[in-house]
Amino acid sequence: MRTAVPLLALLALLAAPLAAEGSDTKGKYFFKKSCKSCHVVGQPGGEVTPLIKTQAQWKTYFAAGKHKKGSEPLTKVGKPEQMNDIQTFLTAHASDSPQPMTCGG
Ligand code: HEC
Repeated sequence: MRTAVPLLALLALLAAPLAAEGSDTKGKYFFKKSCKSCHVVGQPGGEVTPLIKTQAQWKTYFAAGKHKKGSEPLTKVGKPEQMNDIQTFLTAHASDSPQPMTCGG
């Protein structure tokens, strides 16, 4: 009946070290500034929110560091020093995170 509770506790444990890597709040701000211009409905990048990937998928995405179907480095669209915070924000609110979020701001 209550199998969801240990799973959530586990996710919270997994999310804690990730959150320590960067700032969720700053990441949200940088995401709005550096990414949202192209990533809302009707813009060339299409809508991108934390929810489009799982935590593991965001981790892999930022580890690869490639943007636009792998055609350019992610740092072409955002400052390198902002990437850690942006990753933290996206991962903290990913589809399988404890606090999934749609709007990104
Ligand atoms: C100058 C416009 C522009 C900016 C700024 C931008 N993107 Fe993109 N992004 C695109 C385009 C164009 C695509 C490719 C969309 C397609 O072909 O489906 C894309 C694709 C993506 C994808 C889908 C996977 C991929 O790489 O193809 C993700 C995730 C993404 N962007 C994240 C980000 C993040 C995070 C930022 C901010 C650091 C950002 N984008 C900033 C234009 C932009």
